[in-house]
Amino acid sequence: MKANTGFPKNFLWGGAIAANQAEGAWDVDGKGPSVMDVVALPEAYSRQGTLGYEQTKESVLSALEDKEGYYPRRVGIDFYHTYKEDLALMKEMGFTCLRTSFNWPRIFPKGDESQPNEEGLKFYDGLIDEMVKLGIEPVMTMSHYELPLHLATEYKGWTNKKLIDFYMNLFKVLFDRYHGKVKYWILVNQINMLGWGDYCSLGMLKGEHEDWLSDRYQAVHNQFVACAKAVEYAHKTDASCQMGMMNGEVLGYPASTSPEDAFQSLQAMQMNDYFFSDVTARGEYPGYALRYFEENNIKVEATQEDLEVLKNNPVDFISFSYYSSGLYDKEHGNDLLSNPKLPASIWGWQTDPIGLRYSLNAYYDRYKKPIFIAENGLGAIDELVDETVDDTYRIEYLRAHIENMREAVKDGVEMIGYASWGPIDIVSASQGEMSKRYGYIYVDLDDRGQGSGKRYKKKSFDWYKKVIETNGEEL
Ligand code: BG6
Repeated sequence: MKANTGFPKNFLWGGAIAANQAEGAWDVDGKGPSVMDVVALPEAYSRQGTLGYEQTKESVLSALEDKEGYYPRRVGIDFYHTYKEDLALMKEMGFTCLRTSFNWPRIFPKGDESQPNEEGLKFYDGLIDEMVKLGIEPVMTMSHYELPLHLATEYKGWTNKKLIDFYMNLFKVLFDRYHGKVKYWILVNQINMLGWGDYCSLGMLKGEHEDWLSDRYQAVHNQFVACAKAVEYAHKTDASCQMGMMNGEVLGYPASTSPEDAFQSLQAMQMNDYFFSDVTARGEYPGYALRYFEENNIKVEATQEDLEVLKNNPVDFISFSYYSSGLYDKEHGNDLLSNPKLPASIWGWQTDPIGLRYSLNAYYDRYKKPIFIAENGLGAIDELVDETVDDTYRIEYLRAHIENMREAVKDGVEMIGYASWGPIDIVSASQGEMSKRYGYIYVDLDDRGQGSGKRYKKKSFDWYKKVIETNGEEL
């Protein structure tokens, strides 16, 4: 018997982006609008909190007609046209994987059509073929805040069970077409991030729901069923493919030494995080969730058939994003508090590398399924000087996290790979700005999409190259 000494030989190293934050080309080649395409960057905005996720039917429809506002996802970094050059730079760093997403309304512009848009599919043919050619394993997310807007305005988003069929139409088209080239599939981005995900993931609009909480968990239930049906279809069609669930991991420690706070942190982690992985990886609603529903008067309709499909189709792997941690206490319940012992970025995200090791151990102990880190990184304001950026702060952040990930592997956690967030600068999801940058590659565009669009290597570019070359030994 021997303990692991480091990352496995076939460990995947790379990065993760999302279609809506990178591609731009929002109305090109038959693409319809997504929920994110109508979120504007206000003239004046604060760097705290998140932007634009309290939308109404009126606000999103008028955004479609708006000629004045700036909508950053419509522009992205023009990855739709630059992907070959961008992938070449990633290859130069030695990437063996890239996670990105299918932009749903590129393929089904409104979401409820029966036939896909062939032009949209052609883009993914090209992108996936290019990755395969370069030896970069595509890790594809089915839905990363790219719900067709029409499904939000006309169907009330995922609260409507019809969304399960629309998702399956999309999934079948994509799986049939790409299963020989794409092995790893992530079914929904950060399925647990409710609150901010209510609009951008579930497609819920303010004013359209009488019982918000019940509708929210009904929508989540429908997503669970859609994921299970996708797993069922994939396993029948090509059992070599690996189907994954994804959480946005927000680790919360107890705020004090009191048993009450410790128990509160357990309960908050259950409802904010593990509930989503429990259902998708174990196939059952856990008792703590049923109790939470009863105590909060949340009504979720689940048929016998739903429960069976969940039971029979757990995912093959777990993935999560990890950026920061916080605290829970009895007084504030399931609301995350900041930790006075940890440094924070200007956006308030606290850096806690040990939390990554902690989370990897916690998830592995719970499910004993391989884990893929789907996102991790430091958003920062970078300064381009002499065609490069000295982003030592980013290297330090990533080094500490990768070190802790290596410790987790030594602890016995089985891992598939690591995708750092935004290896090339892209539009920020929560802030809508370009100036919250995560990349090894600087993109010369400002918050309003002005600039040359040219790509420059930051200091972290060579550093990450070395990390990959040495399979995480040299940090
Ligand atoms: C995750 C999302 O929450 O965090 C990404 O899946 C997002 O879409 C990333 O970009 C970083 O967040 P932000 O708001 O700094 O871009």
